[in-house]
Amino acid sequence: MAPSIAQTPTAEFVVPIKAAPGATETKARLSKPTAAGKDQLALLVVQRKVVAFRDQDLADLPIQEALDFGGYFGRHNTHPTSGAPEGYPEIRLVYRNNNAWEYDEYPATKNSSVSWHSDVTYEQQPPGTTFLYVLDSPEVGGDTVFVNQVEAYNRLSPALKERLHGLKAVHSGFEQAEFSLKRGGVDRREPVKTENPLIRTHPVTGEKALLVNGGFTRSIVGLKKEESDALLGFLLAHVGRGIDYQARIRWAPKTVVVWDNRVTDHSAIIDWTTGERHHLVRITPQAERPYETPYVPREGKSKA
Ligand SMILES: [Fe+2]
Repeated sequence: MAPSIAQTPTAEFVVPIKAAPGATETKARLSKPTAAGKDQLALLVVQRKVVAFRDQDLADLPIQEALDFGGYFGRHNTHPTSGAPEGYPEIRLVYRNNNAWEYDEYPATKNSSVSWHSDVTYEQQPPGTTFLYVLDSPEVGGDTVFVNQVEAYNRLSPALKERLHGLKAVHSGFEQAEFSLKRGGVDRREPVKTENPLIRTHPVTGEKALLVNGGFTRSIVGLKKEESDALLGFLLAHVGRGIDYQARIRWAPKTVVVWDNRVTDHSAIIDWTTGERHHLVRITPQAERPYETPYVPREGKSKA
């Protein structure tokens, strides 16, 4: 909980409107905050993991000012394959308009648009405090769903937690690069693979979180293929069905969503058929290199 934030006038935060586990909506103004306000914003996002801010003017700022704002929270990640405004490769543009990729090719190969991932976890230092603000969105549909990876860890049995500690998993950017090139997109640099701990410790809260996602986690180091596939399959299914620790964000004009990419997975939901555009801008400051601390018995006892 963050009572000091709600009481601090410089941040203009108010108490949560909706307090689903791990999620918050607030009425706060993000533009031109003080440094203290930015620190409080970062802390709020660390504590809540995902926060939706309504009625914001971030989309009205010149791109450089938006980047300057986001740069306070870490060095910008330049996405290897994303579209970006000319001259601003650090900006990640998300654009969907129900074109053939979404509604013909895509359902032909997958049963669902749900694709859980944490952003660019193949990087040496994946993002932390991450901003996504909307330019256009469909009137109905196109929500984004988030899942709390600390709670996903907490729900595991002590025996499994203990076994998972010390394991590392391979996160790969190769498939994303190949996908981009196949579609005529860009690939700004050689793709990379990185070994990350399967259980990550948050540097601020000390909480432990599963660091695993279907988007980029490919295998568990030291296990044979069948073992790795089975364990990863279990963990991904566990995270994916955790509706009791997920938050579904409805985009409305002027919404800014900020999440802690260290300890959450998310997925777009492609469920509108009207041809409306879904156009968003992501600002993606990097965090520390993921690390783990030893298993502590009885820590993170399940609420279930
Ligand atoms: Fe993402």
